[in-house]
Amino acid sequence: MEVVIRQDRRDAERYTAHFMAAFVRSHPGCVLGLATGGTPEAVYAELVRLYRKGEVDFGAVTTFNLDEYVGLPPEHEQSYRHYMAARLFNAVNIPEERTHFPDGTAQDIAAACRAYEEAIRQAGGIDLQLLGIGRDGHIGFNEPGSSLASRTRIKTLTAATIRDNARYFGSEDAVPRHVVTMGIGTICEARRIIMLATGANKAEAIAAMVEGPVTAMVPASALQMHPDVVVVVDEEAGSKLRLADYYRWVFEHKPDWQRVVR
Ligand code: GLP
Repeated sequence: MEVVIRQDRRDAERYTAHFMAAFVRSHPGCVLGLATGGTPEAVYAELVRLYRKGEVDFGAVTTFNLDEYVGLPPEHEQSYRHYMAARLFNAVNIPEERTHFPDGTAQDIAAACRAYEEAIRQAGGIDLQLLGIGRDGHIGFNEPGSSLASRTRIKTLTAATIRDNARYFGSEDAVPRHVVTMGIGTICEARRIIMLATGANKAEAIAAMVEGPVTAMVPASALQMHPDVVVVVDEEAGSKLRLADYYRWVFEHKPDWQRVVR
């Protein structure tokens, strides 16, 4: 894993957005895996800004989102399709028919999950996956205990995640208990992964993911098995990393040709 420690939240968000924009510029027909949550909101805002300035073109891009709530129709304000439309899709030129979400409203969810995996395969696999991380170390909605080989499927949210996401729904009772999420096995098949984590409340999860043992109890720790992961944190989210000084040194001394963002 490459750990990039930026001074503050804005800088970490900007770094992530510019990394993604550079990737799209060098791979115009790429398949992006996208994430939701509070963390990537500013990343999408920066991508929209770059698009408006003519610095990135999404015309040939395909997207697959990580997860979706079960039972929320796409037009529901808290559905992840709605989130993505409001923050990115409506503002850039990604053709709508090339944006994909797991179907949380399907009659046969298991069949819809298989179809989602098939659609990712048909598109040639995910080239760059953006990830956030839950305070308990979850990625997508793969809660602690998820199989590290899991594929897209229905999951039940933990009480902790329901509490964390209640801020968007007004109350814990309004948060759907079930979600459909790419599995950890699905996520780990992306060719490249960039994770963004900001704020002190992510410090524990980041340290466990980067420096702890690989365990289903910290689903993100599966990324240690992946050959091409960049973890972008601000000082706060990186504050519990034991090797923080080492990561800083490595980053500062990286040769220019290895830098995606300058
Ligand atoms: C949700 C999403 C995850 C996200 C996590 C953290 O559970 N399914 O993809 O990484 O929340 O969210 P936030 O960025 O709001 O802290």
